[in-house]
Amino acid sequence: MPRKIVVTSALPYANGPIHIGHLVEYLQTDIWVRFHKMCGNQCLYFCADDTHGTPIMISARAAGISPEELIGRVYKEHKADFDGFNVKFDNYYSTHSPENRYFSELIFARLDKAGSIVKRDVEQTFCESCNMSLPDRFVRGACPQCKAEDQYGDSCEICSATYRPIDLINPYCATCRAKPALKTTEHYFFKLADYKQRLKELIDGGYTQKSVANKLDEWFTTGLKDWDISRDGPYFGFKIPGEENKFFYVWLDAPIGYMASAKNYCDKNNLDFDKVWNSDEYELYHFIGKDIMYFHALFFPAMLMGSDFKPADKLFVHGFLTVNGGKMSKSRGTFIRASTYLKYLNPEYLRYYYASKLTDSIEDIDLKTEDFINKINSDLVGKFANLASRSGPMLIKKLNAQLGQLDDRGRQLIDKLTDAKDHIIKDYENLKFAAVVRTIIALADEANRYVEQNQPWITIKTDLEKTRTTLTAVINAVRILTIYLKPIVPGYARKVENFLNVDKLKFADVETLLQNHRINEFQRLVERVDEKQVDAMIEESKEDQGTKPPAPAEAEAVVTEPFKPECTIEDFGKIDLRIAKVIKAEAVEGADKLLRLNLDLGGTQKNVFAAIAQAYEPDELTGKIVICLANLKPRKMRFGLSEGMILAAGTGRKDIFILSADTGAKPGQTVT
Ligand code: MSP
Ligand code: ZN
Repeated sequence: MPRKIVVTSALPYANGPIHIGHLVEYLQTDIWVRFHKMCGNQCLYFCADDTHGTPIMISARAAGISPEELIGRVYKEHKADFDGFNVKFDNYYSTHSPENRYFSELIFARLDKAGSIVKRDVEQTFCESCNMSLPDRFVRGACPQCKAEDQYGDSCEICSATYRPIDLINPYCATCRAKPALKTTEHYFFKLADYKQRLKELIDGGYTQKSVANKLDEWFTTGLKDWDISRDGPYFGFKIPGEENKFFYVWLDAPIGYMASAKNYCDKNNLDFDKVWNSDEYELYHFIGKDIMYFHALFFPAMLMGSDFKPADKLFVHGFLTVNGGKMSKSRGTFIRASTYLKYLNPEYLRYYYASKLTDSIEDIDLKTEDFINKINSDLVGKFANLASRSGPMLIKKLNAQLGQLDDRGRQLIDKLTDAKDHIIKDYENLKFAAVVRTIIALADEANRYVEQNQPWITIKTDLEKTRTTLTAVINAVRILTIYLKPIVPGYARKVENFLNVDKLKFADVETLLQNHRINEFQRLVERVDEKQVDAMIEESKEDQGTKPPAPAEAEAVVTEPFKPECTIEDFGKIDLRIAKVIKAEAVEGADKLLRLNLDLGGTQKNVFAAIAQAYEPDELTGKIVICLANLKPRKMRFGLSEGMILAAGTGRKDIFILSADTGAKPGQTVT
């Protein structure tokens, strides 16, 4: 009996482009869905844009358009990106939809009826000049603990302290720089702790991977807090029924968006939503990244349990993408948009590369550009496509494009390939794509050895029929390997299907042979990657940063901060500014913004942490002259002692200015 399966990927935010980090998830899911479809299962893949919330409202304001217009534009871009990468959703919808409003209201009402919703006063940071409540990340100021400037309202990137936005020293609105006010307002809360027992049972029953379950255990131990699910207007989202100015928090309606997408599909295709979404007839799986585990392993299943919907059978959590060992970085050009990638490279390369790295674990996966080029050229081109180009053209030119029959040796080869089927299917099912790829490569090596041993390029001169027999085995090997690879590289598989003159290949086709069959004209299956294309893509991704309008939170960063209280000349006299020379600069692990500087102040050396990592590569700084506040009281930071501060000016992004050339100033000299 074919299985019936519903699959979702996390809904990408509608305020930014799809990038190669997101694609880890959409490609992983798409490969799994294609695999199931090729097994003959009914598999429905649903997704949508996540359209609500403050950041989207702010982006729209900054662009001078309505949020509806913004999400409409982004929807088109996202769809084009997914199409470009052959990610094939059965429905790609939007959380700003009637179905989503309906289910959000329904679930909220049911939770309320079950006694799982409470109302409580909260203190809220509010910007009068922007006329909106500010999420923690949109309030900035100095850390109340280590005093580091320009920290977010929830936690300090320098000393890791966590606090409330109002605790910041000199807090300001990240959009307009005005000082926010505190407002007391009533919010709705979801009583997550009521579901503790049922959530524990769910997770003990194998809802997620072991490593995820361990993380969840920590959360159970620290206790499940009530979850704030409302926001005061103005807010881009769904109004809470019966309220004038309160809206559902974006994370309440976002996962419900999975259901909305399913419902929209069912209505269009005459399917019964209750059966598809909420019965045992269909299995249900979510794919997500590890950053949003809390929402999918706790909040969402609890909301479903409290409102008579079944939770998913399983939550598959994946790790994050790093590039060449580091976080995706705009300055290094490794923050690569899907659309930029597609200008330079074949999407099948990335699909193949990710598959070759993906396992069922939540470990991060690293894209090494050199390894990427090697894998494509040596495996995809050198092993798989090569097998076809060694056999197809010869058959067509010299043997009327006509296959013969297998002999015993050919049969042996094909049996070996066929025997791997169950194993490969099991690995696909369990998300062990790297293992799948390894198995298929080993089989391709086997087939290439068969070609070497039988030397068709020699026998073609003396024995046409023997050659036909050899090539028939090779073509059958090509066909089976293509079936195995098809979920990963569907575009490649389509070309092979055309050239072999066969219907759409399915897993069941592994059991049959292609004999006495006429093949079609040969077409090149895949080109080698040229390093230059990769370099050009990275180069363009570097430029992205300058040409793109700055994110709204940063848009007005040049507006001066409100002045601090006056200081006297005596106060000023206390500070000791000195010329210093950078002896050494290095990155600080665990703090993206910081560099550790070793400074020479004319015989005395000081260790200073400066938040300028986004503006300078450490190497550029060595030998440079800076001005150092030399008598700042040393501060113990998570990474070591900071014994001073350097002066810099600029917009706080790429261009922070410190004295660039050696000005002749001598280390230790006082600055007047
Ligand atoms: N909108 C929320 C999800 C709501 S689901 C009801 C969100 N959006 S996102 O655009 O930030 O991320 C979408 C998915 O892509 C998430 O599962 C996230 O983990 C994943 N990734 C985003 N950046 C990623 C990497 N750099 N690497 C791997 N996956 C990444 O979260
Ligand atoms: Zn503001």
